[in-house]
Amino acid sequence: MKIGLLGHGTIGAGVDRIIEEISCMEVKSVMSLEVDDSFRDRHVEDIDTIVNDPEIDTVVEVMGGVEPAFTFTSKALKAGKNLVTANKALVAAHYKDLIALSEEYGGAFRATASAGGSIPWLVNLERAKRVDQILNLSGIMNGTTNFILSKMKDEGADFDDVLKEAQCLGFAEANPAADIDGPDIRRKLNISANVAYDVLIAEDDIPTFGIRNVTAKDIENVSSLGLTLKLLGVSGKTDAGVYAYVEPTLLPGSDVIAHIPANYNLIRYEGKYAGVQSYMGEGAGRYPTAYNVVEDLFDILAGTKHFYSTEARETVPDNSIPVHRYYVRTGAESAALSGITEEQREGFVLTKPVSVQEMHGVIKDILTSDPAAFMAGIPE
Ligand SMILES: NC(=O)c1ccc[n+]([C@@H]2O[C@H](COP(=O)([O-])OP(=O)(O)OC[C@H]3O[C@@H](n4cnc5c(N)ncnc54)[C@H](OP(=O)(O)O)[C@@H]3O)[C@@H](O)[C@H]2O)c1
Repeated sequence: MKIGLLGHGTIGAGVDRIIEEISCMEVKSVMSLEVDDSFRDRHVEDIDTIVNDPEIDTVVEVMGGVEPAFTFTSKALKAGKNLVTANKALVAAHYKDLIALSEEYGGAFRATASAGGSIPWLVNLERAKRVDQILNLSGIMNGTTNFILSKMKDEGADFDDVLKEAQCLGFAEANPAADIDGPDIRRKLNISANVAYDVLIAEDDIPTFGIRNVTAKDIENVSSLGLTLKLLGVSGKTDAGVYAYVEPTLLPGSDVIAHIPANYNLIRYEGKYAGVQSYMGEGAGRYPTAYNVVEDLFDILAGTKHFYSTEARETVPDNSIPVHRYYVRTGAESAALSGITEEQREGFVLTKPVSVQEMHGVIKDILTSDPAAFMAGIPE
């Protein structure tokens, strides 16, 4: 297998390094903005050099972002090359287009590292679907936010201090919005739900509430309820439809997710026959992520031609289906919140069971007058 590598950053350099030890694969050409000595002799300036190289059968895209990644990967697929990517932004935005191009031109398309980093999550969803019906899936899909919440719980630390520590350790980006506000999880949830239920959900249709506003006092409050706070992506499929949302969630000690430490991820699905299957591992990082990219390359060598899902029926998630209580902390007066409050505690309220759709609407409204408000779901 001769590979054209698009991007030689954190993941690209890891892929290049792992493949050095694999005799049946070779990174023939590398495209990136900066060049270093490790690939200077293989560097190419232009995607067309890779696309028009008949020796290159496979393109690995690890540049990130939607454009120019989509333009480059489309060109590669149209030239009949196989495509492996770790780029969740690309796959969430162009899921249907990439599957269609792969089917039309015959190149394989795999993206296991785009949801779960090192975790063999999408490949197992794909296997599970052959036999089982996926009823729901959920989990910790972002290590940075789990690191922050775990530290806040264990040390009683403030959000800003732990975020700075995560940035120093390289777990969090200089601009942490994609992690702490939830878009990173939303994309992984989007891809997972698309694969699990053979649907095509638009990213913006997934209501998302992150942990930017969580305080040490919130952590103390939820501990007083005997619960642990985690930021989860959740989706499911019922006779009434598909639902999907991202929100801080309060879990009892009996739930294994409450105990996932540091920057680890745990993602699980519930199958009609298999029951609950959980996958834990490193959801990011150079070698863990590069590992799963190379696993995809081996799957292609072994003859896997298709993506995890061949159908993609456009579906708008119906978040009136999931109903549960919420913890809400706000200083704002809200008639809508008063109408759903079941219990007033000191500094926070517990709501009656309400739909995810309703509560995300209520908190959006509250944030206009109290930008520091916080909420977390309490699953039944
Ligand atoms: N980092 C993780 O732990 C992780 C985990 C799972 C998935 N992913 C995904 O993997 C992908 C890569 O992430 P990363 O952390 O490796 O990013 P990164 O360190 O920023 O590397 C991106 C690479 O792409 C190159 N690049 C960017 N735009 C380009 C362009 N227009 N033309 C040519 N080269 C271009 C960059 O070149 P320069 O270096 O010269 O700028 C760099 O080599 C992303 O989609 C990310 O979501 C990452």
